[in-house]
Amino acid sequence: MRTFLFVLIIIFCTYHLNAQDNKVNYDESKIPDYELPDPLTMENGAKVTDAETWWNQRRPEILELFETHVYGKVPCTLEIISFDVYSSDDSALSGKATRKQVTAHFAPDNSDQKMDILIYLPNGVSRPVPVFLGMNFYGNHTIHPDPGITLSTQWMMANDEFGIVDHRATEASRGVRVSRFPVEEIIGRGYGLATIYYGDLDPDYDDGFQNGIHPLFYEKGQTRPKSDEWGSIGAWAWGLSRAMDYFEQDNDIDHQQVAVFGHSRLGKTALWAGAQDRRFALVISNDSGCGGAAISRRGIGETVEQINTRFPHWFCDNFNRYNNNEHELPVDQHELIALIAPRPVYIASAEEDQWADPKGEFLSALYASPVYELLGKQGLAVNEMPAINEPVIGTVSYHIRSGKHDLTWYDWQQYLKFADLHFGSRK
Ligand code: GCU
Repeated sequence: MRTFLFVLIIIFCTYHLNAQDNKVNYDESKIPDYELPDPLTMENGAKVTDAETWWNQRRPEILELFETHVYGKVPCTLEIISFDVYSSDDSALSGKATRKQVTAHFAPDNSDQKMDILIYLPNGVSRPVPVFLGMNFYGNHTIHPDPGITLSTQWMMANDEFGIVDHRATEASRGVRVSRFPVEEIIGRGYGLATIYYGDLDPDYDDGFQNGIHPLFYEKGQTRPKSDEWGSIGAWAWGLSRAMDYFEQDNDIDHQQVAVFGHSRLGKTALWAGAQDRRFALVISNDSGCGGAAISRRGIGETVEQINTRFPHWFCDNFNRYNNNEHELPVDQHELIALIAPRPVYIASAEEDQWADPKGEFLSALYASPVYELLGKQGLAVNEMPAINEPVIGTVSYHIRSGKHDLTWYDWQQYLKFADLHFGSRK
């Protein structure tokens, strides 16, 4: 009897797990028919045929739709209390770089509401220099073993392998993410690199927006963002724009040559930052997937419902309306790419990252291309997905590399080429 019960339980569990797995569709032939909104047709049905109408009417309309239905609005502007360059060392990385660390204070009381920007700038090249700016998942101290980097004291996601104890970094956390930040190579090519721990803006868990920067924006009596106000991605993207505010004040940095980049949820963040803030000259999305570059209506790999269920704090509450209901979305993600036009954009996928829907990421680059063309630039140079490890680099760029969901040296090699193409080779 006992054995029988045990077998029954096993059968039940296996069935149940499979049923869960089956909810994720990876089969192209099961994608329902869908019709994408046209970035060049106004909500009132009028066609957009000139740049002026794009800039004055259609672009603001699309931006507003993304704010209201997807990422949420930033409630108001906040004066940064101060940018404090608390350390600057021109003998970093064996003299090859200058390391600056800057704290942006968001609240007057020296509270946790601040962010630290870590910046490496190449020595021995003429300044100001172009810079890659991207957020990191586990603290600035993870991107390089350099002992001069301040160890973050903020809340972190649990990760034994990265030396996180009780959600805090330890000395063992230094340099654990070097593979995603090839600092020496970037510096060697004449670029600066700046990074921020995303948890400085909003720790990545659902606490009803009590910590992080959201409360600084509450009206009297408000306790959480309104349904069309920002979630965590909006807050992270806001942080990237505040770093840009600092760059505008730093004569060593060419603020007109800043490439904003990000991997995965931080790729979604980079796209949203680049879409809203036209000061970012280049935008790079690495494996950003659902809510990033992937077309939501395809419903393949991660869906709107899955992302809203697992990460209820990432988007605005209104985005929940589109759970299992993507066809009602007034926008789709190719229009997020269109908001970046005519600035160069790079979308990258990985072959084994089907959860992020590589084909959907490719298609958003393709379907944003008519806007680039309207604005006098070339769109994506191919109509079909390129082969694995055959990047297509231009104004709208795309690659799918072999391997898993990650930000690798292969990806960086392409991003450096892309930056050389648009900023002019530095070497
Ligand atoms: C999860 C999530 C993705 C996200 C990724 C990441 O896999 O479902 O949407 O991009 O985490 O940020 O690593």
